Amino acid sequence: MYQIPRGTRDFLPEQAARFRRLEEIAVALASQYGYGELRTPIFEYTELFARSVGESTDIVEKEMYTFQDRGERSLTLRPEGTAGVVRAFVENKLYNGPLPAKYYYFGPMFRYEKPQAGRYRQLWQFGVELFGAAGPRADVEVIALGWQYFQELGIKATLVLNSIGCRQCREEYKKALVAYLQGRKTCKLCADRLERNPLRVLDCKEESCQRELEEAPRISQYLCPQCREHFERVKSGLSALSIPFTQDDRLVRGLDYYNRTTFEYKTTELGSQDALGGGGRYDGLVELIGGPAVPAVGLALGIDRTELMDPPALRREPRRRGVWLVTMDPVTDEAIALAHPLRRQGVYLGYDLEGRSFKAQFKQADRNNCRWSLIIGPDDLSQGQAMLRDMETGEQRPLALENLVELVSQLEGVK
Ligand code: HAM
Repeated sequence: MYQIPRGTRDFLPEQAARFRRLEEIAVALASQYGYGELRTPIFEYTELFARSVGESTDIVEKEMYTFQDRGERSLTLRPEGTAGVVRAFVENKLYNGPLPAKYYYFGPMFRYEKPQAGRYRQLWQFGVELFGAAGPRADVEVIALGWQYFQELGIKATLVLNSIGCRQCREEYKKALVAYLQGRKTCKLCADRLERNPLRVLDCKEESCQRELEEAPRISQYLCPQCREHFERVKSGLSALSIPFTQDDRLVRGLDYYNRTTFEYKTTELGSQDALGGGGRYDGLVELIGGPAVPAVGLALGIDRTELMDPPALRREPRRRGVWLVTMDPVTDEAIALAHPLRRQGVYLGYDLEGRSFKAQFKQADRNNCRWSLIIGPDDLSQGQAMLRDMETGEQRPLALENLVELVSQLEGVK
């Protein structure tokens, strides 16, 4: 027996349909906000992720699917979408076009994490990236888009907000944090983080670290006047749109490219996998990847976790629709030929493929949730008529075969 790789999933039709709805709703929303689709490859040169996500992040250190291709180039399955979009933005010189430029994407990402409910090795993200707007309004717009998505789905999420400052004020803060934590009891991992990526300590779930952090210096006390002003305007912009948020100056994200605003949409319903989505501003990344200095902000929403929340908007009663062709004897080619054009009219049409009995065909009509059965008896074809049965009420009525497609495609509940 072959087995699916750990941390990946098959999407059977019902769940695949839910995923498709989640994508459609996201795409409609992004279009409403003026975003156009940008598709980038599933794999990129490893160096791109190492550079942009950051060498000392968990993602780059231990979660990437990296392999050599036959030309001995190091490639990596994308662990996230921003790096590829920024690469495409630079490589296609999109910065020469009108700014701000707005892109969205939907697709699988790959992270070698320990699988559990809500955490997969192949995961789906819907993301947006906005280039060329440095002001706080851009942050607000992006955050509002994610917020509206969860609202439309009927999901309760909490927006958590922070500012991690700019390179200058963050450096000051890092120094203060390191000085404070040195000699204190942190976990082993954090002792190491302290040297290489001190902000990650803030995110540690270990109780000993959490305790030590209680009195630690806070980034909010270190923001420079410009960063402080930016953050204040993001907050007032969100309030103006009646979007509630909580501020958490320990919210650091697992990617290195952020500056100023960072945010996450959280839930209490999925255990430890509490982030439904997140993002932030990344003003230095375009330049780091070889483009001009273009400010940017974006987000990614985790679609696997969103679906796990069982969004009310997806809970629709299965509706009867379409037509099942039923014949007295096993289905004939003539009957199929008559009904087949319905498919070109956008009507769901089904019929038995295995020579089953009349009774069995009715059962199929029911099992396939058809609204109508089109019953063609042995003499019907020569007499130019058939029967139509409403599967909801059981009522039957005769139907002239002349104009069949036209008549049937106008029936109530057929599409
Ligand atoms: P991220 O926070 O790493 O951000 O991922 C965004 C979301 O993807 C998470 O909040 C979570 O819902 C989902 N996610 C991440 N890993 C997994 C996993 N193993 N299984 C299931 N879901 C997962 C980014 O990826 C950034 N690129 C966001 C961004 C865009 N920032 C700026 N622009």
